[in-house]
Amino acid sequence: MNAAPALPSLELEVPSVAFFGRTLAEYAQFFSLDPNALKGISVLDVAAGPSSFTAEACKRGADAVAVDPLYGCTPAALAVHVQIDYRRMLAQMRAKPQLLRFQSFRSIDEAEASRRSAAERFLADYEQQFVHNRYIGAALPQLPFLDGAFDLVLCAHLIFVYAKQFDFAFHLEACRELVRVSRDEVRIHPVVGLGGKPYAELERLRTALDADGISSEVVPVNYEFFKGSDTMLVLKRR
Ligand SMILES: C[S@@+](CC[C@H](N)C(=O)[O-])C[C@H]1O[C@@H](n2cnc3c(N)ncnc32)[C@H](O)[C@@H]1O
Repeated sequence: MNAAPALPSLELEVPSVAFFGRTLAEYAQFFSLDPNALKGISVLDVAAGPSSFTAEACKRGADAVAVDPLYGCTPAALAVHVQIDYRRMLAQMRAKPQLLRFQSFRSIDEAEASRRSAAERFLADYEQQFVHNRYIGAALPQLPFLDGAFDLVLCAHLIFVYAKQFDFAFHLEACRELVRVSRDEVRIHPVVGLGGKPYAELERLRTALDADGISSEVVPVNYEFFKGSDTMLVLKRR
């Protein structure tokens, strides 16, 4: 008897956390931010990758800083990460369009053009601003900042998305650390994994954070690209 053909995996298969980034316009949608309200506030983008959020937010008068474990590499080395990881990620998206929702972008081509423009803008800014401490090499669950150093702390497409690579303890420590360095609030997006399913241990995580005096709320956002990516988790110290 012939073996049944293997069903294609129902999630994006990414061998390691992808160095893949988005623009401020996309961050504004999935974090429900008003770009005009960024002026004068301090913002930390954690797991920022080749996102252009920080470059664009600084242009708008925010005091924005980005963190990623790969910062500290040369611009040429980061450009190679972009080249390899964009190719892999876009190939996965094209192979599994059923995991995507064409609300915020009309097509994969449109999403690709936007994300490539983010990486180009990031690489140019990184080359100029790394020496001025706009881009800091560090990794969750430990951040090299004082308590309450930033008005707003953002973390997109790391926590919850890569639940296979990071265990529950990492998720809890990472959330506590994001809250520690925030003055007002933390926003995390999305609240689903690479298959579009909600993070399985969300209630356990929220209960543990609550016991630490951290309130959490799952808030709908006017955005969806990966299936199920239409919410963010907002954390605040009580
Ligand atoms: C998919 S990218 C997200 C980029 C950006 N936040 C966005 O949404 O466009 C995930 C990033 O997380 C970074 N990363 C991996 N492990 C990390 C850790 N332990 N702490 C912080 N960032 C990490 C990777 O280097 C990668 O650049």
